[in-house]
Amino acid sequence: MTFLVATTIICTIFFVGGGDACGYYWREFDGIIPPDALPAGLDVYNKPIYIGQALYENLLIPAKIYHNDNTAYFEYGGKELTTKLNVKILCTDEPDQFEWIKTNNSHIREITDRFLVQGGYHPSSSTYIGRIRTDGEVLIGKVLADNTASEGLHVTQKGTARSFSSFEVLSYQAKKVENKPEAKDTVPEVRYTAVFT
Ligand SMILES: *[C@@H]1O[C@H](CO)[C@@H](O)[C@H](O)[C@H]1NC(C)=O
Repeated sequence: MTFLVATTIICTIFFVGGGDACGYYWREFDGIIPPDALPAGLDVYNKPIYIGQALYENLLIPAKIYHNDNTAYFEYGGKELTTKLNVKILCTDEPDQFEWIKTNNSHIREITDRFLVQGGYHPSSSTYIGRIRTDGEVLIGKVLADNTASEGLHVTQKGTARSFSSFEVLSYQAKKVENKPEAKDTVPEVRYTAVFT
C-alpha cells in the first residue's frame, strides 16, 4: 500500500543580512518538551500545554501535549485518539510574534489580513490550530475551516471529543525589524514534503 503525506509549510521569509528565517518550526517530540516549544495555555494543574501534530493514517492532525507526558492527544472521528509515535511539537524563537485571534466558523473565513498557522493536513479543509478555555483548562486542537460539515474547533477533554463553533485561532506575524530597510521585503515560500512508504 502506498500513501502520500503532503505537508505544506508556508512561511514568511525575512531577508535579514542576506539570510532568511521562518519564525517557527516543528521538532520531533520524544517525550521531552524542547526549551523553545511554544506554550499555548495552562492545564488544570497550571502547567503549560503545548501544540503537537500527530500523523494518523494519511492525515496530520493538531494535537495537545502536556508537561511530563510523552503522549499526544487529538480528535478524530468524534473520539479522542492518542499516540507516542510520529509526533511533532511546534517550536519558535519568536514567541511574541504569535497571536490568538478570537473567531468563529463564519468569521474565520474572512480573516485575510493575518497569517493563520497551518496545523496539519486534511484533504478537504484548511487545518489551523485552535484553543478554547473551558472547565479550568486550555484545550488545544484542530480547526477545520472552509464551510464543510466538520468545520469548527475539535478538541478532547478527559478522553471525550468536543467541538466548538467559537474559539481562538493561532496566527503568526513576523515583526518588522527596525533600522533595516531591506528587512521589509517579504517573499512567501511554499515547501512540499512527500513521504512514500
Ligand atoms: C463571530 O466572530 C466575529 C468576530 O469576533 C463577531 O463579530 C461575530 O458576531 C461572531 N459571530 C457569531 C455567530 O458568534
